[in-house]
Amino acid sequence: MDASRRQQYLDAMGIPRYVMREPPAADPSSGAAGAGESTPAAPESGNPGADATERQSAWAALRAEVASCTACELHASRTQTVFGVGNESAQLMIVGEAPGAEEDRQGEPFVGRAGQLLNAMLHAIGLAREAVYIANILKCRPPGNRNPTAEEVAKCQPFLVRQLSLVKPKVMLAVGGVAAHNLLHTDEAVGRLRNRIHSYGEDRIPLLVTYHPAYLLRRPEEKAKVWQDLQKLHGMLHGD
Ligand code: URA
Repeated sequence: MDASRRQQYLDAMGIPRYVMREPPAADPSSGAAGAGESTPAAPESGNPGADATERQSAWAALRAEVASCTACELHASRTQTVFGVGNESAQLMIVGEAPGAEEDRQGEPFVGRAGQLLNAMLHAIGLAREAVYIANILKCRPPGNRNPTAEEVAKCQPFLVRQLSLVKPKVMLAVGGVAAHNLLHTDEAVGRLRNRIHSYGEDRIPLLVTYHPAYLLRRPEEKAKVWQDLQKLHGMLHGD
């Protein structure tokens, strides 16, 4: 991405020019979308076509299970489930909290105001929304956007675990406290969890934590810290 385009996105994020002394180097070999794409995974059997078909049926089965889930009370108030979106082989998987009103209406994560800011954050490090995979801890909207209960998280968690095992991201980004706390089993504040590389699950997937874009809309003065987190993320994806 050229410098003026990146500046446009930083402007969209509201990042002042002075924090941009060392923007991440653009990856000359890839377009905006390329940075989030996985190098093709080594086929698990001698028959890559069969592996791809199996993956497709695993995704289809998971989608269907989520769409018809009635495991917790949230099924009664939702308009629809909000599964996840993006590149199913992405190097980066972003995990948010739960659908809000707009996501519940459209059936896609991060499509409201917070989603627009998330897109701008991704663009600031040369990533198109379509290049990454985006999912939430919960697949249904909690009424009034209240925090998820422990029971709702427990019922929904297997879906996220299966999404993760299909995407197999190189890096994860937890946005906001609810995602960070449930993925890392801690209640430390986001301000203390950010700026460190954590690891998730048995596969020890490197995981970064940053502020939720909805929080940034309320506290724009924290955007400079998120820009630091994004630069770190860029480095983890590109090995610099
Ligand atoms: N906030 C989230 O955490 N996820 C969404 O999908 C939308 C807003």
